[in-house]
Formats: sequence, C-alpha cells, structure tokens
Amino acid sequence: MGRSSGYYSTSVLQFFTIASCLLVLSFTGSVTAYKNYTVGGSLGWFDTLEKPDVNYQKWADSNNFSLGDFLVFNTDNNHSIIQTYNFTTYKLCDYDDALQNDTIQWSAADPSSTAPHPISVAVPLLKEGMTYFFSSDYDGEQCNNGQRFKVNVTHGQGLPKSLQDPPDDAPAPNSADFGSDDSAPETIVPANFDHPIEEDSDKDEASGSGSISFGGRFNRFLLLFQIVCIFLKF
Ligand SMILES: *[C@@H]1O[C@H](CO)[C@@H](O)[C@H](O)[C@H]1NC(C)=O
Ligand SMILES: *[C@@H]1O[C@H](CO)[C@@H](O)[C@H](O)[C@H]1NC(C)=O
Ligand SMILES: *[C@@H]1O[C@H](CO)[C@@H](O)[C@H](O)[C@H]1NC(C)=O
Ligand SMILES: *[C@@H]1O[C@H](CO)[C@@H](O)[C@H](O)[C@H]1NC(C)=O
Ligand SMILES: *[C@@H]1O[C@H](CO)[C@@H](O)[C@H](O)[C@H]1NC(C)=O
Ligand SMILES: *[C@@H]1O[C@H](CO)[C@@H](O)[C@H](O)[C@H]1NC(C)=O
Repeated sequence: MGRSSGYYSTSVLQFFTIASCLLVLSFTGSVTAYKNYTVGGSLGWFDTLEKPDVNYQKWADSNNFSLGDFLVFNTDNNHSIIQTYNFTTYKLCDYDDALQNDTIQWSAADPSSTAPHPISVAVPLLKEGMTYFFSSDYDGEQCNNGQRFKVNVTHGQGLPKSLQDPPDDAPAPNSADFGSDDSAPETIVPANFDHPIEEDSDKDEASGSGSISFGGRFNRFLLLFQIVCIFLKF
C-alpha cells in the first residue's frame, strides 16, 4: 500500500505540472491579444476647428475595446484628455465641476500656449462598461467641436497582471506554478521510468486505489510531455 500511494502521488504531481504548464502557455498566448488603439488614427486627437475631418465617435464605433487595451492619444498641449465614467460630466463637456472619483485628467493642458508642442498619452482601459473621453479646454469649446467620444469596454480576457492592483489575486496562480516547477524534475525520474510495473498496476486496479492508468508507458509519455512543456516555457 505504501508503495502504491507513492506511485500515486508522483502521478498526481505530474498532472499538476502539466496542468500548470498548460495554464502558463495559455496565458502567454493571450497576452498578445491586448491591443493599443491610436485615437483618430493618423489624424490624432484634435477638434474639428483644427482638423475638420475628425469623427471620434465613428472611429470608436468601428472598434471593439476590452479591459487591458490602451487608447493612445496623439495631440498637443493646447488640447486636453479627460476620461470620465460620469455621463453628466461628459454631456456638459466640463472638467472643472467633475467629481474626483469618476473623472481623470490624463494630460494637464496649457491652453495659453502660443507654441503648442506634441503630446502622446497611453490610457489603459481599466473598467468595464461605458467610459467617456473629451477635451475640456476653452470651457468645452473643443469638446463641443467634436473632440469627444464614448466607448463600451467589454470584459474580454480581463485585466493583465501588469494593470491589476498587486495584492488582489497574485498569490493563487503563482504558488501553483512555483511548486510544480521546483519539484517535478526530481520526483518523476526515479519512480518507475526504467521499470514499468505491470503487476502492481493489476493489483491497483483490483483495489481501486486510482493509480492504474498512470503506470508504465503512460508515465514515460507524461515525462516527455513535461520536458517539452518546460522547454516551451522558457
Ligand atoms: C501598449 O501601450 C503600452 C503603454 O504605452 C505599452 O506598455 C505596451 O507595450 C503597448 N502594447 C503593444 C502591444 O504595443
Ligand atoms: C466587434 O464585435 C462585433 C460583435 O462581436 C463584431 O460583429 C464586429 O465585427 C467587431 N468589430 C471589430 C472591428 O472587430
Ligand atoms: C456626475 O458628476 C456630477 C458633477 O459633474 C455630479 O453632480 C453627479 O453626482 C455625478 N454622478 C454620479 C452618478 O456620481
Ligand atoms: C463618488 O463620490 C460621490 C460622493 O462624493 C458618491 O456619491 C459617488 O457614488 C462616488 N462615485 C463612485 C464611482 O465611486
Ligand atoms: C488652441 O486652441 C484654441 C481652441 O481650440 C484655438 O482657438 C487656438 O488657436 C489654439 N492655439 C494654437 C496656438 O493653436
Ligand atoms: C456594453 O456592452 C455589454 C456587453 O456587450 C452590454 O451588455 C451592455 O449593455 C453595453 N452597455 C451599454 C451602455 O451599451
């Protein structure tokens, strides 16, 4: 019984390694799916008085935005970038009376500037649902002249680690990963790599301990799979 339970735990370990390996692979695969959108494309972030062709709502409606995506605003310091979750603030084109907790100023504009210089700001989408952007300079003049749009941010694949608050859900995925990485190479090899134990498997089958299917050839396959997995990780 002692022997077969050791046998069993080795197999369980292997499964954990493979499971976490697949998890890591799927994560690295999905990271590439986050997107950066340049607001207004090559026209940048301006009002229609300055660039008559801009239509930010049309631009926004032709894209799908998800958590973790970035909006890149290319503008100058004569235009500001205000993000709000408050429809009233958006409708009024007014940053000055906005609440601190639902409105963010991403670029401190300098409207008095006589020689504007370029500004580029990447704004991460951190919250699901409607969010609004506008320029609040000149008492809403730029906003009222087309420099505004709204987007509905969908969940997508959720926020990437880099944009989450560190304490929130870091521990769980990490600890599983570390454990399997360290223990896997040492425990697998000696167990039964060289000598698959057919007779034991038969006994296990009878006693129903659950380790039957993990013996012999199958273990070799698992080992190979893990080695491939470990290589793919790095
Ligand atoms: C998107 O922009 C952010 C912030 O500038 C940057 O960290 C990230 O690497 C960019 N991602 C892509 C896919 O270009
Ligand atoms: C946005 O999502 C909708 C529905 O899922 C889809 O029909 C449309 O093609 C998507 N648009 C883009 C630009 O990906
Ligand atoms: C939205 O902002 C306005 C001020 O612009 C404030 O009076 C109102 O309470 C806010 N709405 C919500 C739902 O917080
Ligand atoms: C912002 O604060 C106001 C009170 O100051 C509160 O009524 C409102 O619910 C808060 N909004 C958010 C999004 O936390
Ligand atoms: C800054 O913006 C205001 C309002 O859109 C415009 O009237 C003014 O000409 C701009 N200043 C410069 C230097 O472009
Ligand atoms: C935003 O999109 C979600 C998911 O597609 C949808 O359920 C929700 O009703 C939308 N919200 C608005 C205000 O359109």
